[in-house]
Amino acid sequence: MSIVYLNGQYLPAAEACVPVLDRGFIFGDGVYEVIPVFGGHPFRCDEHLARLENSLAEVRIPRPCERAEWSQLFSRLIAQNGGGDLSLYLQVTRGPAARDHALPAHPTPTVFAMCNPLRPLPTTVREAGITAITHEDIRWARCHIKAISLLPNVLLRQEALDAGAAEAILIRDGMATEGAASNLFAVIDGVLTTPPKGPRLLPGITRDLILELAHDNDIPAHEAEIPQAALVTASEIWVTSSTREIVPVTTLDGRAVGEARPGPVFRRMDALYQAYKANFASTAQA
Ligand code: PDD
Repeated sequence: MSIVYLNGQYLPAAEACVPVLDRGFIFGDGVYEVIPVFGGHPFRCDEHLARLENSLAEVRIPRPCERAEWSQLFSRLIAQNGGGDLSLYLQVTRGPAARDHALPAHPTPTVFAMCNPLRPLPTTVREAGITAITHEDIRWARCHIKAISLLPNVLLRQEALDAGAAEAILIRDGMATEGAASNLFAVIDGVLTTPPKGPRLLPGITRDLILELAHDNDIPAHEAEIPQAALVTASEIWVTSSTREIVPVTTLDGRAVGEARPGPVFRRMDALYQAYKANFASTAQA
């Protein structure tokens, strides 16, 4: 059984309990991170922790740990779960308090972390891509906060699954923003394009690394709005996240994207991403 971390204790998942009055349970009042772990080492850890600190500040939950303490917690939890390649889930809620919308004066945040298996993208997906749908973005106006209240995202992903697709690409005011649980890239007129950061989308860690790799390898790329109509003519569309990495979308709303197979920019970026990861795992090990 997997070992989880809860408020200072490392214990089997089945034994970890949170009070029913925890505001995470009552209000969905909390934030989270999903950090990939390669060769036992959290990938882009500082970037994930910076985003966590930003989410905490935005929702006014006191910071429960400093960076060094998070690192110690992660190392111990990863070791107790056998190391290797994992997905580390970390959640901080405002903690237990009498049910009241107003913020408690002296919150005691609940800190929970667990490790899950990290499965590489199946070869079939790397070779054939996925199907996606577009859908109106039904979420709130602060999507840059990685909040645990994910009901709209859950419903949007299910809409995609019900339509025989794997992801929903969200549209707000005619612009494509991101996926239900991923960021969005499109190759438009030969230029790799992703929407600029702001309250309409999560500032993805994978997204930032892709832009960095594009810059370092002279792949034309920029941050610009993607009108919904541009998705129809884009030669490539990808969705990206820490757990799935770069996933090519080859059918959108029942129409082929480009030549209906993962394109050359995807193949190049995926190779760069895999090489970057391999280098990280070998240098972190040393
Ligand atoms: N989700 N946008 C949304 C709405 C997301 O939920 C995610 C990731 C991303 C990609 O961010 P990153 O590259 O930092 O993983 C973008 C995680 C994996 C999840 O909720 O499980």
